[in-house]
Amino acid sequence: MGAATHLGIKLTEYDGVIRTLIPHYKELIAAAGTAVGALARTAPAVVDLGTGSGALAQAILKARPRARLIGIDEDPGMLAMAEKRLRGRIQAIEGNFEDTVIPRCDVISASFALHHIPTGRRKAAIYKRCFAALRPGGMLVSADCCLAASKVLQQTHRAEWLAHLQARYPRAKAEGYLRAWAKEDVYFTLEREVALLQDAGFSVEIAFRKSCFAVVVGLK
Ligand SMILES: C[S@@+](CC[C@H](N)C(=O)[O-])C[C@H]1O[C@@H](n2cnc3c(N)ncnc32)[C@H](O)[C@@H]1O
Repeated sequence: MGAATHLGIKLTEYDGVIRTLIPHYKELIAAAGTAVGALARTAPAVVDLGTGSGALAQAILKARPRARLIGIDEDPGMLAMAEKRLRGRIQAIEGNFEDTVIPRCDVISASFALHHIPTGRRKAAIYKRCFAALRPGGMLVSADCCLAASKVLQQTHRAEWLAHLQARYPRAKAEGYLRAWAKEDVYFTLEREVALLQDAGFSVEIAFRKSCFAVVVGLK
């Protein structure tokens, strides 16, 4: 299923609509880009997993204007948007990031992409592949929904997400979005994400957290 279909929107509307669907989207993308700015290397090789229309790749270029970008995505329509947005600054690879070879690099980034990995075992596998692909001193940065540990906070955060959707959509449609995504997307708790990254060999920092959204950084 293409990304737009999954989200229930038209591909051409993606950039305009995504922030109405995901609370703090702009802040999260900016925070993930800023995290890459902490890297010692000024012209890092960056591999963006599930690059979509290239928003995170663009934020990384802002922090590291000499970065060399590769975007991996299985949706050719999204990749075409990334290529248009980044005007020759990104090499697009069409493929599944779970089995596409990740080239040697300094940064592996992802925004709202890794929740498409359905199991902890498969997520552990990709984190291990990321660790192996990164040069020493490199980093993995992922912006995504990371659940709170307690059920009470999880419910509060769900209510906040629903309120965000309802600012733009009628309640039934907003509820429908959350129900549909709950069937297709897999969110782990932040604790579990950290544990999976540590098991893969990373030292982990949380660069940004708001409600159930976080930018998690794994350092090699
Ligand atoms: C919700 S979009 C996020 C796009 C972009 N990173 C952003 O922040 O706006 C998820 C993207 O991941 C891609 N994707 C999901 N699972 C994938 C997989 N296993 N391999 C490659 N791309 C995948 C989708 O095609 C889509 O473009």
